[in-house]
Amino acid sequence: MDVDLIKLVNRLQDTFNNLGAYNECGELDMPQLVVVGSQSSGKSSVLENIVARDFLPRGQGIVTRRPLILQLIHTPVPDPSASPSADTEWAQFLHIDKRFTDFNDVRREIEQETFRVAGQNKGVSKLPISLRIYSPNVLDLTLVDLPGLTKIPVGDQPSDIERQIRNLVLDYISKPNSVILAVSPANVDLANSDALKLARSVDPQGRRTIGVLTKLDLMDAGTNALDILTGRVYPLKLGFIGVVNRSQQDIITDKSMKDALEAEAEFFKNHLAYRNIAHKNGTKYLARALNQVLMSHIRDKLPDMKARLNTLMGQAQQELNSFGDAAAFGDKNQQGALILRLMNQFAQDFISSIEGTKVDMS
Ligand code: GDP
Ligand code: NA
Ligand code: MG
Repeated sequence: MDVDLIKLVNRLQDTFNNLGAYNECGELDMPQLVVVGSQSSGKSSVLENIVARDFLPRGQGIVTRRPLILQLIHTPVPDPSASPSADTEWAQFLHIDKRFTDFNDVRREIEQETFRVAGQNKGVSKLPISLRIYSPNVLDLTLVDLPGLTKIPVGDQPSDIERQIRNLVLDYISKPNSVILAVSPANVDLANSDALKLARSVDPQGRRTIGVLTKLDLMDAGTNALDILTGRVYPLKLGFIGVVNRSQQDIITDKSMKDALEAEAEFFKNHLAYRNIAHKNGTKYLARALNQVLMSHIRDKLPDMKARLNTLMGQAQQELNSFGDAAAFGDKNQQGALILRLMNQFAQDFISSIEGTKVDMS
């Protein structure tokens, strides 16, 4: 049986989000990739490069103030030589029934949704924004973008902003089912990496943390990150992957994503220190590696997810029973019945699909 496990998990996750379980999206502990790093370490740039689209709000200071759950869904193109169009590439939010084909509108919608829930005064909210991007240029992946780690409140930020963000990040990465994408800039000593510090606190053995090293182009002349990228500095089972994102100047001059990715590939190929490891670095390799890690992670967690799903369904059944016949026509009961029906339906899909499934990870 050929089952796309990631698609299945995405569907299940949407169902629970739809049922108002936003704050408990971890209730099923869905496997997903969580992006962590200090402010301006390059998190948004890395995400945009993986999606190959400009769509994330950017700017100085704290821009990302709500978690963004980003599902990338690969759409096949009938004619591979044709360039992507609105038919093959679009975005859809969970909170609004609309198909977005202009990615500038996606950015505006994220901004508006951030303001609506997290306010104007630079506060953060735990309530995630759910976004799906369908494109022939992406691999199937679920990514969570989080506010950057900061130390000092600026502007109108509350005095405990550092703690607020830290707790928010910990909420996501402390789940054993999270694969942590720890983003560190190469032009700052790795010993000062907030991302690695926090990742280590929940994953001390470095088993579910991938190191992403940004800004390799901004390192001091005569220095390089070869030792870090080859795993000789900091132990991570899943290793470090170096990338070169667009610089602020590239953003100002509106350098295209395509040109940026080509320039990145050239950077690694032509760099004396990196040319021998060029094939194991860069955005394209990162996207492939992420997909592999996610698939293997899901495979490992399947038995556990199945058990949790059964427990959840048992609880829902019990709650429904407790309403009794008297409430047969009440709103609450109808709602409960609907929830149970949906859960049942998806659980059956889910469980029958995973049974006997083998994922080839070679
Ligand atoms: P975030 O706050 O972690 O989401 O970081 P951003 O992706 O918004 O990037 C912050 C700034 O760093 C922007 O001006 C980017 O252009 C710049 N930047 C990010 N990655 C790189 C990189 O690899 N090289 C260079 N030169 N600049 C980068
Ligand atoms: Na920023
Ligand atoms: Mg950002």
